[in-house]
Amino acid sequence: MQEQLPLYLLPSSEAPWTRGRLRMKLLTHILGLCLALALTNAEHHEHASAVLDRCEGLEMDAVAVNELGIPYFFKGDHLFKGFHGKAELSNESFTELDDHHHLGHVDAAFCMHYEDNTADHDHMFFFLDTKVFSYYQHKLEDGYPKDISEVFPGIPDHLDAAVECPKPECDEDSVIFFKGDDIFHYNVRTKAVDKKEFKSMPNCTSAFRFMEHYYCFHGHMFSKFDPKTGDVHGKYPKEARDYFMRCSKFSDDSDHVERERCSRVHLDAVTSDNAGNIYAFRGHHFLRKDEGSDTLKADTIESAFKELHSEVDTVFSYDGHLYMIKDEQLYVYKVGEPHTHLDGYPKPVKEELGIEGHIDAAFMCEHGAGAHIAHFIKGEHIYDVDMKASPRVPTNERRISLFKKVDAAMCGPGGLKVIVGNHYYHFDSVMLFVAGRALPEQHRVSLELFGCDH
Ligand SMILES: *[C@@H]1O[C@H](CO)[C@@H](O)[C@H](O)[C@H]1NC(C)=O
Ligand SMILES: *[C@@H]1O[C@H](CO)[C@@H](O)[C@H](O)[C@H]1NC(C)=O
Repeated sequence: MQEQLPLYLLPSSEAPWTRGRLRMKLLTHILGLCLALALTNAEHHEHASAVLDRCEGLEMDAVAVNELGIPYFFKGDHLFKGFHGKAELSNESFTELDDHHHLGHVDAAFCMHYEDNTADHDHMFFFLDTKVFSYYQHKLEDGYPKDISEVFPGIPDHLDAAVECPKPECDEDSVIFFKGDDIFHYNVRTKAVDKKEFKSMPNCTSAFRFMEHYYCFHGHMFSKFDPKTGDVHGKYPKEARDYFMRCSKFSDDSDHVERERCSRVHLDAVTSDNAGNIYAFRGHHFLRKDEGSDTLKADTIESAFKELHSEVDTVFSYDGHLYMIKDEQLYVYKVGEPHTHLDGYPKPVKEELGIEGHIDAAFMCEHGAGAHIAHFIKGEHIYDVDMKASPRVPTNERRISLFKKVDAAMCGPGGLKVIVGNHYYHFDSVMLFVAGRALPEQHRVSLELFGCDH
């Protein structure tokens, strides 16, 4: 519910338990308006920060992943962490950015990623005017900030963008700096600067490396580029929020299927029904891929699962039904055209399944022995629930050693797929997943599950 419509735009059939939150939002909204009115004569940036909404198509000042691979988007004196959620003040996470400057903005940022260069590996570098800041695990390194010319000789001040480029993606472990239409490849080891021309690329306002791909943002659009040559292949620019944000509404010309299959934002839930049809849920939308067909369909959750509205926590299939969990409630839909919500639902998860608290993922392997056992993942633990038992209770608690947090999971005749961020992992059985000590091969959700080729 992060990026929400104002109350007056929402359907009046809103479930009562969401009303409280919506009322809060409305209040905040009104307060926001008042504040905005009060500030019309005040400084422009204060007004802007009161209403920063990344789903409106913001131009970011800088983008970098942190040491855990989570993207940080900088805008003015604010920071958006991850793919959704509100802006926070950058100085809450990076205190000293403020001490030397009155933090209006960050020019550029990158995360050093070179296994050989142990001193700087995983450090985040920020560029403000003429200074560079180096952070390790959110702590400023001794001696910083320093002049850019001291740390990166040959690189100009007042940069537009910067991105790390380790071997072999660049010929040498490098950082690529952008200023206007000037491009500098900076060799991290020798400090040599190689000035390049990226002819087919627009001037980047920010740039980042994500899952070994390179993105140049310009305005609220982005282009994927080859870091060695600057070549842009394929249909670019594209809308940044379609790929890197989770929004309740996208622009009118956004292609739902294209966006949902290619989005880099993690899924909320995924399941396949008895017939082998796959459903994947993210935010306000879901994708459906029918068994034996390569065509994907996308729609709003509201249109097919009206009672649930949006943003499901987890979904599993059992006996011709989709079991959908959102907050503490269980919704049960009979699979069909259209799906029908069973009478008497939603019911509390605690009553129906015996489980308390937030469930990260749920799945059933409806074949062979244990076909009626549902599996629930909460943090690093997995539980079994016999769907034929009455009352249903979680049993057989085990610890998962391979993952700290799982986003979604689904099981079919081919085995179990466990989704974490943009990747999934295949296991032949639940036992092999739970007992596993080494990560199996990593697969890309967008490419290998949904056939997005870019
Ligand atoms: C953080 O930044 C805000 C706005 O730029 C400022 O009002 C606040 O005093 C700063 N906080 C600290 C701890 O520096
Ligand atoms: C790109 O930057 C150069 C300055 O380096 C400027 O002359 C040019 O107009 C910019 N192009 C666009 C499209 O803004």
